[in-house]
Amino acid sequence: MDLFGRYSGVFTVKMRWFSLLDMAFDKKYKFSLSDSSFRRHDETPDEAFYRIPRFVSHIDPLAIDAVTALYREYLPEQGAILDLMSSYLSHLPEDRHYSRVVGLGMNDREMANNKQLSDWAVQDLNREPRLPFPDCEFDGAAICVSIDYLTNPVAVLTDLGRVLKIDAPLVITYSNRFFETKATAAWLYLQDEQRAYLIRHFLEEAGCYRDIELMDRSPEFGDLLFAVVARVVKSKC
Ligand SMILES: C[S@@+](CC[C@H](N)C(=O)[O-])C[C@H]1O[C@@H](n2cnc3c(N)ncnc32)[C@H](O)[C@@H]1O
Repeated sequence: MDLFGRYSGVFTVKMRWFSLLDMAFDKKYKFSLSDSSFRRHDETPDEAFYRIPRFVSHIDPLAIDAVTALYREYLPEQGAILDLMSSYLSHLPEDRHYSRVVGLGMNDREMANNKQLSDWAVQDLNREPRLPFPDCEFDGAAICVSIDYLTNPVAVLTDLGRVLKIDAPLVITYSNRFFETKATAAWLYLQDEQRAYLIRHFLEEAGCYRDIELMDRSPEFGDLLFAVVARVVKSKC
């Protein structure tokens, strides 16, 4: 379901627990964010939080099915795919073949046990948002239930545009489940559906995406599942 038009009104929001935050957005969902919008309850290095592997599903099976259906719909078969903020599950359709699936996340053991990854890299994107890949390396990318942890999402999404080919799809999904202590202030303040507009704002700020679609793909029962899908725009690869 298209999310456009669900909200109206002018909001000025103050964080429940970050008194410094003053984030305003109007009815066109233009956000005005400051550094405090990206503060988190747990400001310790992410490396410590993700050191111990979690061999778990972060969303329930029906929400995973919704993610897989989106990947089937958007990610090109035979393409090279980047699973950004990856773990031990990538949720790609088992009946599709991809030339290469590369993961980038925080825990080596999780990704070593991910049967869908061809190779992977460990990198803290909150310390180094530039991706360790050449220009135009990938035919599609996914960020599943993770974008809420990025403290500089625009820098990451901008560099993601560099490593993706022209017109490549990017599928960003999120749920109502997340690690609250590691999610940013902006994320925690907003309601589930409003977060899609925040992601759209990040993509617009990155400036290298077109055809940004906001979707509610929540199954009838269980975890909610929203998606923001876009395609890369650039002059050459
Ligand atoms: C909730 S898990 C989701 C994992 C996987 N995408 C999935 O769908 O199951 C969040 C993931 O974000 C990654 N992550 C969190 N903070 C990160 C950071 N600063 N840099 C890179 N990856 C990060 C972690 O490695 C973790 O696997």
